[in-house]
Amino acid sequence: MNELDALVESAAQGFAQATTPADLENAKALYLGKSGRITELMKGLAALPVEEKKTRGAVINQAKQAIEAALNARRQALADAELEAQLKAEALDVSLPGRSLGQGGLHPVSLTLERIEGIFGSMGFDVAQGPEIESDWFNFTALNTPEDHPARSMHDTFYVEGGTQTAPNLLRTHTSPMQIRHAVQHVQRYKALLDAGEPMPEIRVIAPGRTYRVDSDATHSPMFHQCEGLWIGTNVSFKDLKVVFTDFCRTFFESDDLVLRFRPSFFPFTEPSAEIDIQFPSGPLAGRWLEVAGSGQVHPNVVRNMGLDPEKYIGFAFGMGPDRLTMLRYGVNDLRLFFDGDVRFLSQFQ
Ligand code: PHE
Repeated sequence: MNELDALVESAAQGFAQATTPADLENAKALYLGKSGRITELMKGLAALPVEEKKTRGAVINQAKQAIEAALNARRQALADAELEAQLKAEALDVSLPGRSLGQGGLHPVSLTLERIEGIFGSMGFDVAQGPEIESDWFNFTALNTPEDHPARSMHDTFYVEGGTQTAPNLLRTHTSPMQIRHAVQHVQRYKALLDAGEPMPEIRVIAPGRTYRVDSDATHSPMFHQCEGLWIGTNVSFKDLKVVFTDFCRTFFESDDLVLRFRPSFFPFTEPSAEIDIQFPSGPLAGRWLEVAGSGQVHPNVVRNMGLDPEKYIGFAFGMGPDRLTMLRYGVNDLRLFFDGDVRFLSQFQ
């Protein structure tokens, strides 16, 4: 092997040992740099006679080209390796399952409210909504609740700013104020008919929503839900209340054998009044009477406050607790779970 072939080979070896582009540039300098081996050989040509310069020059040039070729090959190899490593590091397994956002859903109490609206809707009831900040008039006075009734006390009712000393504003303690609000609107709408002594279309409405009382334990929450029901006409009786509410409960709990009990009770705004209890024919709650609603025939004073003549118009009202209905339907025993916002609990209802 001549001196130049040896030089080419040692250059190729040097390049092969370089594992980074910087190493390779250093190795290149040894041969092709300003004072590299090839450069030195080229300089040496100057001293040779013309003929020899030509042949020697051609040979050196060949060696230089071979070294450059080796250099370029190594450059390419290093670049390829770097790309390869980068691709590996950033590898994406497109066959992995995606990370989903998680599917939301309705709150169990909202599911119950939808169910209630659906069932009463099918019986011809409208759905009405009203304010949660109420006046003393709609929450108590118009509902025939005496001035000294215990429900008005600060222990039971959240009073808020606004209103007057004698008629303060409050967070509604039940959905019953919607009886008055809705009936008054209805009467307004059919004023012409009523003025002409004609009967107005019946009032048939439910009013679900949030209600508030100063109360908090496993079965009471300061904020809870109620759903009011009101049916007023010229010939609506307690029998209609029994039929409608029995039908509702049996449909809601999907049990034709569900038994209802109307237990005499008292509310200032109904007379007579009844607490409605249900009993499941089977299952873990079988045999127990469970209270689900208050009800009664709308008191004549309340009918009057609706703007109607109690001699002509009569009907019934009920107020039930959708939170309790939800607990019974799903077997939940602590009401507070509904309002803690724990997704582990809530996602079970989807
Ligand atoms: N408002 C009553 C309550 O909060 C329930 C009720 C509504 C009773 C309508 C009779 C008629 O307990």
